[in-house]
Amino acid sequence: MNPPIRKVRKAVLPAAGLGTRFLPATKAQPKEMLPVVDKPLIQYAVEECIASGIENVIIITGRRKNAIEDHFDSAPELEHFLEEHGKPGQADMVRRISGGIHFSYTRQSEALGLGHAVLLARELVGDEPFAVLLGDVILDGPEPGTKSLIDVYAQTGQGAIIVEEVPRERVHLYGIADARPAPDLGFGDRLMRINDVIEKPKREEAPSNLAVTGRYVFPPEIFDCLSRIKPGSGGEIQLTDAMRLLAKEHGLWGYIYDGKTYDAGDKLGFLEATVELALKNVDLGSSFRKYLKSLTL
Ligand code: G1P
Repeated sequence: MNPPIRKVRKAVLPAAGLGTRFLPATKAQPKEMLPVVDKPLIQYAVEECIASGIENVIIITGRRKNAIEDHFDSAPELEHFLEEHGKPGQADMVRRISGGIHFSYTRQSEALGLGHAVLLARELVGDEPFAVLLGDVILDGPEPGTKSLIDVYAQTGQGAIIVEEVPRERVHLYGIADARPAPDLGFGDRLMRINDVIEKPKREEAPSNLAVTGRYVFPPEIFDCLSRIKPGSGGEIQLTDAMRLLAKEHGLWGYIYDGKTYDAGDKLGFLEATVELALKNVDLGSSFRKYLKSLTL
């Protein structure tokens, strides 16, 4: 008998990385707190969680990451100060950062890999399906990416991840899926059946150019898969290797997101996200566009 399909209430956000690609900016502050336009990177992922119906966000932190906890905690002194100084709108904005959902934190003490980080959330997640969001990827489209994956899980009872075509010369930077179209389940051309996934393959060994972009919904069986794998690419416990087992033993779907993906995990991608999201920003967009046009490039 298939296990019951349960509501996806929890999300895990790994945020323990050292942020080496952003040095020197990340020497003394978490990468997740770098601002993209007017809010820290990790807030985009939390807002996606809230918009997807997630009620409990579990953040995997590490040393020097306390600013993340402070950001999602209430700030009564700041709110009071803003109210007293005639800025109720700003006080309200500060109050709404955590969106009324519950936050829990657990620490990854050693950099043993993304799979290891997710496995640390096992006790907090328990025996239920959950989402994983990599905070350095920002999705912008008509529907939150995590919500689309929750819809696939609700229909199939199986895990689902967002995949996206990338140029062949970039496949070594991602998990790459071996997948075939599965148009019969009501998601049209967007749904793929995943046969296998390979973490950061060489170009000539990549099964396709369909990259794993950092959004996942898993059944709790992923924890058993994670506990069985050995260190893989880069000597780390890789989430991708556990997904290979999950795909073979329980099934896994790939979903092509209807929207734009910003990979803000390196300096250039971060700049692209900053410029494009600033252009879309209600308060800044039109004056920023004028400024860009005034530049003689
Ligand atoms: C991680 C994952 C990889 C995925 C990528 C998406 O790699 O291991 O499978 O494709 O995120 O951004 P990282 O970028 O942390 O090296």
